[in-house]
Amino acid sequence: MTTEREVHAASFDRAADAYERGRPPYPAEVVAWAVPAGARRVLDLGAGTGKLTRVLVDAGLDVVAVEPSARMREQLAGAVPEATALEGAAERIPLADGSVDAVVVAQAWHWVDPAVAVPEVARVLRPGGTLSLIWNIRDHSEPRVARLDELLRRHTRGELDTAPVIGEPFGAPERTEIRWRHRLTRAELLDMVASRSYVIVLPDDERERLLADVAALVGDAGEIEMPYVTRCTRVTRR
Ligand SMILES: C[S@@+](CC[C@H](N)C(=O)[O-])C[C@H]1O[C@@H](n2cnc3c(N)ncnc32)[C@H](O)[C@@H]1O
Repeated sequence: MTTEREVHAASFDRAADAYERGRPPYPAEVVAWAVPAGARRVLDLGAGTGKLTRVLVDAGLDVVAVEPSARMREQLAGAVPEATALEGAAERIPLADGSVDAVVVAQAWHWVDPAVAVPEVARVLRPGGTLSLIWNIRDHSEPRVARLDELLRRHTRGELDTAPVIGEPFGAPERTEIRWRHRLTRAELLDMVASRSYVIVLPDDERERLLADVAALVGDAGEIEMPYVTRCTRVTRR
């Protein structure tokens, strides 16, 4: 039986274009923290359209991107041809044992089954390699962001766990937060909302109402500055 999580996890296939246009990038400091010095071959797992992949490539790394959605992979291949894009998922990674120095998972660990994914990630990592989990979170301590999040929260169920416990065969987690700001156009903000899994799966009339509410909130602002906190967890394979 397909679970609700699986339905949401698979929904990105229907909004790959909006995802690529609207979702925020990742600052280079995230890669500097998430990928240890000396790492060469890196797996970007649940890579989507390659928002993090392109930052990994720009850092001079040899990048393999694994992503289950064909449409997300298509966008990735167009945006980051330097990376090798493969079909797969955290529970079935199409790589050999001990073949990568680091695994990074941006905005995707909440879609995986950790009981299967943790040993699978450990399998493809060399001993001493790292797994880093990354989430871009809007900083809703700013009132205008809080108003946007209030509209979106009507359609979500609870907060994401952005500081998960990983466990064996990984050591104790190290964590950091990186604060930064992203400038985006009004149209990009609407795409950012339209590419959330919980918005993709809404009935058409509800999705249109939500997008109209967000458009009204933004008014006729040409550009918006969105504050982000990027939350990162890093664990090392024993
Ligand atoms: C919110 S997107 C993040 C994409 C990209 N990492 C980024 O930061 O923009 C979540 C991605 O996880 C993928 N995904 C869903 N279930 C997955 C699984 N079990 N293993 C790996 N990736 C998965 C989705 O197809 C989607 O591309």
